[in-house]
Amino acid sequence: MATSGKFYITTPIYYVNDVPHIGHAYTTVAADVLARYWRLRGRETFFLTGLDEHGQKVQQAAAKSGIDPQTHCDKLAPQFENLWKKLNISNDAFIRTTDAQHKKVVQRYLQELFDKQLIYKADYSGWYCTFDERFWTEKDVADGVCPDCKRPVEKLSEHNYFFKMGQYQDQLIDHIKKHDRFIRPESRRNEVLGFLQTQKLSDLSISRPKSRLSWGIELPFDTDYVTYVWFDALVNYVSALEYLPREKSVGHDFWPANIHLVGKDILTTHAVYWSTMLMALNLPLPETIFAHGWWTVDGEKMSKSRGNVVDPNKMADEFGVDAFRYFLLREVPFGQDGDFSLTGMITRINSDLANGLGNLLSRTLTLIERTQGGVIPVSGNTGPAEHELEQAAMSLLRETLPRHIEQLEFNRSLEAIWHVVQLANQYVDKTAPWTLAKNERDAEQLKTVLYTMAEILRCLSIAIYAVMPKSAQTICAQLGVSDEFAQTLPIDRTKWGCLMPGTAIQKGPSLFPRIDSKTQGAKPVTESPVPSQPTAAIPTSIPAAPASPQITIDEFMKVQLKTATILSAERVPKSEKLIKLQVSLGSEQRQIVAGIGKKYEPDALVGKTIVIVANLKPAKLMGIESQGMVLAAGDADVRGLLTIQEEVDPGTKVK
Ligand code: MSP
Repeated sequence: MATSGKFYITTPIYYVNDVPHIGHAYTTVAADVLARYWRLRGRETFFLTGLDEHGQKVQQAAAKSGIDPQTHCDKLAPQFENLWKKLNISNDAFIRTTDAQHKKVVQRYLQELFDKQLIYKADYSGWYCTFDERFWTEKDVADGVCPDCKRPVEKLSEHNYFFKMGQYQDQLIDHIKKHDRFIRPESRRNEVLGFLQTQKLSDLSISRPKSRLSWGIELPFDTDYVTYVWFDALVNYVSALEYLPREKSVGHDFWPANIHLVGKDILTTHAVYWSTMLMALNLPLPETIFAHGWWTVDGEKMSKSRGNVVDPNKMADEFGVDAFRYFLLREVPFGQDGDFSLTGMITRINSDLANGLGNLLSRTLTLIERTQGGVIPVSGNTGPAEHELEQAAMSLLRETLPRHIEQLEFNRSLEAIWHVVQLANQYVDKTAPWTLAKNERDAEQLKTVLYTMAEILRCLSIAIYAVMPKSAQTICAQLGVSDEFAQTLPIDRTKWGCLMPGTAIQKGPSLFPRIDSKTQGAKPVTESPVPSQPTAAIPTSIPAAPASPQITIDEFMKVQLKTATILSAERVPKSEKLIKLQVSLGSEQRQIVAGIGKKYEPDALVGKTIVIVANLKPAKLMGIESQGMVLAAGDADVRGLLTIQEEVDPGTKVK
């Protein structure tokens, strides 16, 4: 992909009378990520989305509601516009194919092709699918149903206008072969090439007689016809540049598009119809058409009839805009199909966002608040641990992240960012700043650790910006940094050490609160069903066992005991006894609910290295999941937690 000069990115224009679903949100969020990424890197960017408003379905729906089609469209358009606002989509323009200026451009192009004799009138007879608004040939139609939507087709015979698409077959094959990034991913490119090399490309019917469909753009050379909806719709990518950019004079410089993002089902219309239309109009072809995969829901096709359509509005309201954006792009490699489940989303949010990045931010700010009067300290001497983190952050910002985003490997870019989050959390566990804070002689080292934690968070805020714009700005604001990511970021802000000592932090509410899967009506986070209040799993203490039977060594060896460092602790509301702990086992983090609240204040627990039963089935205590059990001495009343005096890495086995 070009990495300099202007950047023009588009989404498909969505059918106005569709209810916005996760598929629409997916493409639009992905396009937004690329637009934000390139704006931040200083490329002049134009990001276009919009609505496809003509065609039979709109005409029928309007008739059913007893209103004219334009009023119908005007009523429906805000459902998309409002969703994009809610999802923080930074589109530069919003096109509607009923815009008068768009219609003029379509008519101008039609006239141009007609004048060049690239459009001709002919008889046509074929199988027509009203739902898909397209003809099928005899061999496509098995048992009288549409091969796409499986609805009945009808035999139609009519005069229509045709675009000489077939004559561009060789030119198109040649273009695809010469430009290996024109159709992506590679597998889709091969599919299109395979089809073009084995089947004769026919001409394209680009009109519909008004007697059958009147809601469309009238043909400039025959007022008895309107334009086929796809011919009209595809032109939006060029027509928008004529009248929508804020500075009209630069609009045309954006063509050709750098990326058309589309779903796999509409690749042919883009790769074949649109490309040949552009060839006929002597316009350059887009640099890349990228076809992403489809979402199923809990393993099933998403459809209104199944009642499993995922509403992006609801997802954003319930889980947060950034968490939803993160999930969409983290879960599935862009280009492949993926499955959506609430359980999957909650697990991701809790493990990556709440326990990972959110926790790193909250402990950094808490420690700076408590030990440095809320001011970023001057770093003391740094050692190998700090250098390792610095290097990880720098190579993330300069190499790994650009490489993955530029390849549209969103999931890998997020994986790379979260690798650094994990390294940072491990650094905190190892350096144990809460212990350093206890000794005056460690004051210098404490400052080094806290500065490093805050600086890594500043770097992470830049890295996450394109996917999670609001969270990135929040991290900055809480660190007291005034970077404005909607504009180009000066290159030196990606250098290590930009965070100014002396800056006052502003700790705010938790960035990503943990989500309780029960209150969200989701399936349990774990695969195996867990009892809601199993007394045996109440992680308070190991009960004394006066008359308990003896066990064999093999039985005992089944219990996995491990050391864990307490990262954060808070009381469970309405419980005297329960404290919710986030603990680190080195390579993973867990949440444990322990009945130690009568003995300990949460603050006194942070930083302690304790012993836990690591292979206990998760259980719920007062509706909160506990992923293990803390060992403590005492019977009904806890007398003391088992802690480790020596420096032992979290996650070490205890025998
Ligand atoms: N109006 C045409 C596009 C014209 S572009 C010049 C259209 N509109 S649509 O409303 O049906 O758009 C659908 C977009 O959503 C397509 O890119 C399609 O692939 C995508 N998706 C529809 N269902 C989807 C999933 N279940 N999962 C992911 N994307 C899906 O087609």
